[in-house]
Amino acid sequence: MEPIKFNPQSRVFTLRTCSTMYQMQIERYDTLVHLYYGADLGDTEVVHRIVNLDRGFSGNPYEAEDDRRFSLDVLPQEYTAEGNGDYRIQGIEIRHTDGSNCLQLKYCSHQILPGKYRLPGLPSLFTTQESDAATLEILLKDEPSGVEVKLLYGVFPQCDVITRAVEITNHGTSRIALKKAMSLELDFPKRSMDLIHFYGRHNMERQTERRPITHGIQSIESKRGMSSHHHNPAVLICDRRTTEDYGDCYGIVFVYSGNFECQVELDQAEQTRLVMGIHPSNFSFRLNSGESFTTPEAVMTWSGKGLEQISHHFHDAFRNHLIRSSYVNRHRPVLVNNWEATYFQFDEKKLYGIAKAAKEIGIELFVLDDGWFGKRDDDISGLGDWYVNEKKIHGGLPALVQKIHDLGMKFGIWIEPEMISEDSDLYRLHPDWCLKVPGRNPMTSRGQLNLDVSRKEVRDYVMEQIFQVLDSCHVEYVKWDVNRAVGNVFSQSLPEDRQGEVLHRHMLGVYDMMEQLITRYPDLLLETCAGGGGRFDAGMLYYSPQIWCSDNTDAIDRLEIQYGTSFIYPISTMGAHVSVCPNHQTGRTTAMNTRAVVAMSGTFGYELDLEHMTKEEKEIASNLITQFKEIEPMIQNGDYYRITAPGDENNAVIWSFVSKDKTNVLVCGVVLRKYPNPPITLLHLRGLDPQKKYKETLTGQIYTGAVLMYAGIPLPLPSMDYESLQYRFEETDEI
Ligand code: DGJ
Repeated sequence: MEPIKFNPQSRVFTLRTCSTMYQMQIERYDTLVHLYYGADLGDTEVVHRIVNLDRGFSGNPYEAEDDRRFSLDVLPQEYTAEGNGDYRIQGIEIRHTDGSNCLQLKYCSHQILPGKYRLPGLPSLFTTQESDAATLEILLKDEPSGVEVKLLYGVFPQCDVITRAVEITNHGTSRIALKKAMSLELDFPKRSMDLIHFYGRHNMERQTERRPITHGIQSIESKRGMSSHHHNPAVLICDRRTTEDYGDCYGIVFVYSGNFECQVELDQAEQTRLVMGIHPSNFSFRLNSGESFTTPEAVMTWSGKGLEQISHHFHDAFRNHLIRSSYVNRHRPVLVNNWEATYFQFDEKKLYGIAKAAKEIGIELFVLDDGWFGKRDDDISGLGDWYVNEKKIHGGLPALVQKIHDLGMKFGIWIEPEMISEDSDLYRLHPDWCLKVPGRNPMTSRGQLNLDVSRKEVRDYVMEQIFQVLDSCHVEYVKWDVNRAVGNVFSQSLPEDRQGEVLHRHMLGVYDMMEQLITRYPDLLLETCAGGGGRFDAGMLYYSPQIWCSDNTDAIDRLEIQYGTSFIYPISTMGAHVSVCPNHQTGRTTAMNTRAVVAMSGTFGYELDLEHMTKEEKEIASNLITQFKEIEPMIQNGDYYRITAPGDENNAVIWSFVSKDKTNVLVCGVVLRKYPNPPITLLHLRGLDPQKKYKETLTGQIYTGAVLMYAGIPLPLPSMDYESLQYRFEETDEI
């Protein structure tokens, strides 16, 4: 299969993956028109769908002369500019030195290249061999100003995704200001579609919302300098009738961790347009003559078989081409984290006590969370002072770490390198190193300020401090946290007309720091975190194979949080722990099994005071670790199915994993309420081979795949609220 083809006669570009096709055409006046995205249609060029009409108040390009039917205002296009007679949401807006904002982007040339384009300094999908992907570069040019826009397409046939990015170069003689530079623009010549997105808040991230796309503009966004707890930079657009396993659906994910905007518009001709990219708010990039700006990457995919296939495409693409860590499909050590066990109140004896109890039940990694450094007895001091607090850890860190290693456990540590407390030695030394607007009091959040990591000297200094700690004792895991949104956006190091660059430069600075860390310690297991899941995005996955999903560790709330997250992100990326009950965030009590079944569909670990566990609880906890290790390969590599959804009529949240060869199936879930005289619910599994026979490993009961999928099996009747279930089925030859 040729992933990228250009037909010089029809001037049609065809991008092809195993099951999808994407087409565009160089139309009249060198306009790059979007033709089609969807099922593979073989050799067809879909040039017949565009209907040109004379639409009042929709202007025409000058070259069209008296052809009033050719209007950019309604034409589906690949990448559109402001100031040009297309009044819809657009990909790019610039300001020339004369104050005008017009760009007439015309096709200029193109190149088809083997392998995947690169975006230096930015996270993006990678190839392991050249044949994994192909690249198309299309150059558009605004002749009068010399501004060039290079559209980049990376086609990954095996996982059915296409990546997009844009490079803007000022080849003119005067400087320009880039006001908006979206990574992706996508036109759908369609109405009656739904938008699915993932909204939330701290402690309740990635809630799933589905709503119709109606006339006007809808926006999903973050202006918080991080992708945020509030909206996730990923959306699905689907037909009204699309379900988990039926119907047309598109998925678009932004590979970026800072401000973003995804807008969707239904226009006058009942066509839908979507743009995704860096939020234009407080964004302005100066490009002098000869300078370029490269947008972050966006990834898109299409499914004709409902939402679950979109998830499979993204999960496979991210596991194989985004997460660089060797841990991506390797056993993740089962950990214990001391945060909910101690918060800031600990000393080395307490930590060692937890580690020792953890070792006894089979835990492999001890993670020392916040509070080990500087004068960090609470959350308003110490950030920036990355040296051990010997008042808490007497004898220093290397001695404690040695004792943990002597137990036969790995050691991990928490850091928050992007932040500074006013009450810190670093702040007293460099008060100008934080983001702060001159002459104004800064907005604080959790009593801390953002370090200005757009400045190289700042990030190099902080990373050097952290490297000294990591070098002083063998650290195998780092939890990289960030506990406030970016605010007070002003960098002392940039001139007035470059302050609109601070937020993006800040994000590039964060990526640079993470790159430094993983380059220096290639075997390190990095877990990123942002007060829970405030930066759960594809950008972060380029650096860390797992992200702490939420500060809410309540198993029942986690059902909803992990359900929403699963639409886009692989299950193995979700940091999830068993914590104590009553739960610290909700006060709810659930059985340890329930907490564990939910945490196992994630990275699995414990976050409670193991010294306070009874003998019986320790035995359960230990058995659960054995159980997790047996099923972990399914969770890491299987195809994921959402069998029921939170809030539906089933009174249960059930999900499953099916191995790629369909020989093994793992079904997990929680029945929410115990009703007296309960209704019967049948579970219909999906993704099995209908012909194969499957044996349930506990009862030995044998079913065909067809029975499990089409006839269903009854949901067990619980003996109390929130009871969990976990079934394993293996292919069998037995009758
Ligand atoms: C927020 C994280 O999500 C928590 O797990 C914990 O690490 C705290 N920060 C520590 O301050």
